[in-house]
Amino acid sequence: MKTLLILSVNGRPREDAVAGNALLIDYLRDTLGLTGTKQGCDGGECGACTVLIDGEPRLACCTLAHSVAGRSIETIEGLSHEGKLSRLQRAFHEHLGSQCGFCTPGMIMAAEALLRRTPQPSRDAIRAALAGNLCRCTGYVKIIDSVEAAACASEVPA
Ligand code: FES
Ligand code: FES
Repeated sequence: MKTLLILSVNGRPREDAVAGNALLIDYLRDTLGLTGTKQGCDGGECGACTVLIDGEPRLACCTLAHSVAGRSIETIEGLSHEGKLSRLQRAFHEHLGSQCGFCTPGMIMAAEALLRRTPQPSRDAIRAALAGNLCRCTGYVKIIDSVEAAACASEVPA
C-alpha cells in the first residue's frame, strides 16, 4: 500500500505516493530521477548511497523512504548552485579525488557533513569521517587531499 510522503529534497518541498517498503535510495533514484546517489553493495557496506538527512550522513540503501517523512534530504545534486560546483566538488575534480567516480557522490556527502561540523578537520578526522565509504580506485590519498583542499577553499570560486 502506498502512503503520501511529505519531505524536503535539496531544499524543495515534495509530496509523493510511496510504498511502505520502498527504500530511500529507490525513491531518490527512480521516483525523483536523482541518480547521483549510487547503489553499490545495497547492504550498508560501501557508503556509495550516502545522503544527508537533516545534515547527518546516512545510508539511503538502509533507510525506508517513509521513515524520513518531514525531514530534509540532501543529495549530491543539491550541492552545486546555479551551475557552479561546490568547493568539495571542485576540489575532487582539481585534486584527482575521483577516478571511476562511483564512490564520489557518497564520499562528497560524507565530507560535506564533516566540513559543516568541523570546518578545518585534521587528516585523521577526514579519514574517520570517510571510514564507511569504500573506494576501489584511488587508494584514498587523493580523496583525503581533496577534502583538505576543500576545507581551505571558499564555497564560491573567486
Ligand atoms: S549501497 Fe548503501 S552502503 Fe553500499
Ligand atoms: S573513484 Fe572508483 S570507486 Fe572510488
